[in-house]
Amino acid sequence: MTINYTDFSGKSVLVTGGNSGIGAVTATLFEELGAKVAVADINTHNESGGAGDKNNIIVGDVSKESDAENIIDSANEMLSGIDVVVNSAGIVDEIKPAVERSIEVWQRIIDVNFRGTFLISRTAARYMMEQRGGSIINIASVNGPGGWPRRTAYGPSKASIIALTKELACEWGSAGIRVNAVGPAYITTPMVEGLIKEDKIDVERLCKRTPLNRLGGPEEVARAIVFLASDWASYITGETLFVDGGWMAYGGAGDVKTF
Ligand SMILES: NC(=O)c1ccc[n+]([C@@H]2O[C@H](COP(=O)([O-])OP(=O)(O)OC[C@H]3O[C@@H](n4cnc5c(N)ncnc54)[C@H](O)[C@@H]3O)[C@@H](O)[C@H]2O)c1
Repeated sequence: MTINYTDFSGKSVLVTGGNSGIGAVTATLFEELGAKVAVADINTHNESGGAGDKNNIIVGDVSKESDAENIIDSANEMLSGIDVVVNSAGIVDEIKPAVERSIEVWQRIIDVNFRGTFLISRTAARYMMEQRGGSIINIASVNGPGGWPRRTAYGPSKASIIALTKELACEWGSAGIRVNAVGPAYITTPMVEGLIKEDKIDVERLCKRTPLNRLGGPEEVARAIVFLASDWASYITGETLFVDGGWMAYGGAGDVKTF
């Protein structure tokens, strides 16, 4: 039997954080593949020309229970169902020594990245259980399994997302709901461009540490998300697919040496 992996016509897709970066590119890609798409974001200002400039944006903070429930209820009404949810809303860390961190800022990062992913997934699954199926894709990071100094909120929030992805996949598999994640390395989005501008990351060093020797593009993450959402991934659940130019594969000391 041939399954057309790229045909999402008739499917309803919600992308949180869909007003910028990976979320915006993912929303646009799903639209191009025929899906009905809604985006949810805390920010109505569209800087990236993504899907949020259309009439399909739901404003809300994914870390607030009432907002998360409103996002899902509104998307379900707008799209007449929810087949796919992409949890792309997220914020970066402040990059500070652990001993100097404010617990309020620390908590906010955990709340948006981890609690938000849980709240949106929990509410969406109530609808998906009724319709006996669905697919949820979370956004982890290479900074989940890997330790980075001075990122004591972001890394743990992403490690928690990897664990949550497994937990929910096991709990909801028999209801026909698949739960997976992608784990990007550094991707050229407004989030990372901001870090570059503030001199918080050194792109040249990152490229030298990456087997493919470059940063990734948001469309490369979007394609992996679409694959996980598609029927070609019908027997895949609980997985985190790293989209990282080989970052996780590399275990050597210092730069990747090529010959
Ligand atoms: N860019 C990277 O290199 C990279 C690497 C690994 C993981 N990620 C993850 O990918 C996801 C998307 O990142 P991006 O680079 O596209 O960032 P981005 O800043 O370009 O986009 C994030 C979007 O999330 C929205 N958002 C933030 N807080 C929110 C909240 N409380 N409720 C609703 N929306 C909220 C923002 O307004 C923004 O539109 C994040 O979870 C990020 O941690 C990014």
